[in-house]
Amino acid sequence: MGSSREEARKEILHLREEVEKHNYHYHVLDSPKISDAEYDSLFRRLIDLEKAYPEFAAPDSPTQKVGSPPLDKFATLRHTLPMLSLNNANNREEMKEFDEKIQRFLKISTPIQYVAEPKIDGVAVELVYENGQLTVGSTRGDGSNGEDITRNLKTIRSIPLTLRKGEKDIPRRLEVRGEVYLSHEAFQKLNREREEEGQPLFANPRNAAAGSLKQLDSTITARRPLDIFCHGMGEVQGASFPSHNDFLQSLKEWGLKPVPFTQLFHGLSGIFAYHEELESRREDLPYEIDGLVIKVNSLELQRRLGEIARSPRWAIAYKFKPRRATTRILNIQAQVGRTGTLTPVASLEPVQVGGVTVKSASLHNMDEVERKDIRIGDTVIVERAGDVIPYVVQVLKEKRSSREKKFKMPDHCPVCGSGVYREEGEVAYRCVGLSCPAKLKEGLKFFGSRAGMDIEGLGEKLIDQLVDRGWVKDIADLYNLKREELAGLERMGEKSAQNLIDALARSKDSSLPRILTALGIRHVGGATARLLAEEFSSLDNVMNASEEELTDVREIGPEGAKSIARFFTQRENRKVIEKLLNAGVRARKEPKREGRLVGMTFVLTGGLERLSRSEAQKSIEALGGRLGSSVSRNTDYVVAGADPGSKLTKARELGIKILDETAFFKLIEQ
Ligand code: IVH
Repeated sequence: MGSSREEARKEILHLREEVEKHNYHYHVLDSPKISDAEYDSLFRRLIDLEKAYPEFAAPDSPTQKVGSPPLDKFATLRHTLPMLSLNNANNREEMKEFDEKIQRFLKISTPIQYVAEPKIDGVAVELVYENGQLTVGSTRGDGSNGEDITRNLKTIRSIPLTLRKGEKDIPRRLEVRGEVYLSHEAFQKLNREREEEGQPLFANPRNAAAGSLKQLDSTITARRPLDIFCHGMGEVQGASFPSHNDFLQSLKEWGLKPVPFTQLFHGLSGIFAYHEELESRREDLPYEIDGLVIKVNSLELQRRLGEIARSPRWAIAYKFKPRRATTRILNIQAQVGRTGTLTPVASLEPVQVGGVTVKSASLHNMDEVERKDIRIGDTVIVERAGDVIPYVVQVLKEKRSSREKKFKMPDHCPVCGSGVYREEGEVAYRCVGLSCPAKLKEGLKFFGSRAGMDIEGLGEKLIDQLVDRGWVKDIADLYNLKREELAGLERMGEKSAQNLIDALARSKDSSLPRILTALGIRHVGGATARLLAEEFSSLDNVMNASEEELTDVREIGPEGAKSIARFFTQRENRKVIEKLLNAGVRARKEPKREGRLVGMTFVLTGGLERLSRSEAQKSIEALGGRLGSSVSRNTDYVVAGADPGSKLTKARELGIKILDETAFFKLIEQ
């Protein structure tokens, strides 16, 4: 035993080093040395070992990037040195003024050395490393005081919890500043999920990054693929650098991720060309940049230049042309989505925005329309970033002619004519029509999508025909389609008809999370579906769960619970599910867990003397059982320690077996 423990300890330490090393190659050097699958397997092995040997767990292990229990609010922190803001230059003239002022101030007539780096459009943060350990992380706030978001920053993969040892000694104290951002791809994925779950969308990647950093529950932040680029310093003790460029190099050695594409220049020559070059590459970058930041390279000169009115004299933001344009709203119409949501969409007088013709913009919802007071006929500023659907930034009210018309949500669905309602406290208007073709079409698209039943070949054009011909009135009807019928449709032939029939047949053998996702229940995306599957283990149990039992599941909020319960109490929905089951759709049994407590759910209430909560959880899970957060009919045992709470009362009400600490111990030690 002793030696295997010792071996485990060694392996854990070795794996941590390996994982850290590969993190560094991946995030900082941008050149991974192993495949994602190999990395995952190292990481899993480390998690498993730390689980099996909790005595070797460590707060700075790379496995600890999953978040921690929610906070009530963020504490305020004072920055040692204020976080300044930058003055802008919008053209070459303003850049020349910047350069001349510096030369005048320093009384230097030779060209100044500058570093040019991209200006990342994200959220400014500060990280504090004390003796190489990340101790505090904060937002910029008002520049003097920010919010303590340490827990959230710790979940970001590219922020090391411990600095690497490089050639240069690790400073006693290192305050690093940087920009936390979300890639375009991650932003779009996040918004798609939010749309599915009926949550308001983020307007752009920066807002999404800011929203993610402001989560009081860091497990939510941990699920957002945030990233960072470091570009500046606060107070540093125990290290000095001749230049900003040297500072950036040292960051890299210590395992931090400096801004990419930095270049040194003498005077302004070369900077204008570099500005043009990066501006043209802007569309191809996976994240948003909105200009260059030009900084005096020598730290000594920076010190002499100092600051004025909260901006340094030694740096300037040399902005790109905005990807904004002014145009007119020709009309506003409501578009019906899968969950019946009516989204106001503006059709625009076509306009070029950074090389792309924009003809329409999403107005998201009525609250937004009212808040921005957007009217038909208005002259507006629209913005787009990456491939994101353009949005209206602002109405130019001074351009109004008084002929503009307010937009009203229609009382009746523009597609099926059913009534439209707005639930109290919600922003969205919805069509009530059970068989609204617009809803049905969107619902079918979603049912067949990758996240749902993954039915290859079930495209938009095909769905239109199936619904318009009245062949498919609900998702279950898909499984009654005949090859001969399909083959006669536009753009279909014998072969594609057969392929679709095969894909439908394959999709019948599915998993519970997939089926739950595919049903298109509001507030139930992939993550919630997996949670439901885990908590309730069968479709039947989910269908019969009460709103209360659903609310009890951690991470399912009251709105989600309400929506799920309401979905399954609708007779029409139950009928459709029965049709699906009759057609042969099945949730595949997940591979069996092993152990004596397989399939058993425990709930703890009150304090245990001999075990911590997490140790109890580990013991239960090691035997194949699981620890639930709340008591429901699906709970097998409630373990009552000292001062048990309302969970005990509830267990008594439901007649669930109750164990005291001794009995629990016997059970797990048998
Ligand atoms: S240096 C002394 N470098 O832009 C000012 N800032 O408008 C320190 N930003 O709050 C800023 N990319 O959050 C610097 N490469 C970069 C940057 C950058 C983005 C942000 C930063 C700052 C804001 C100023």
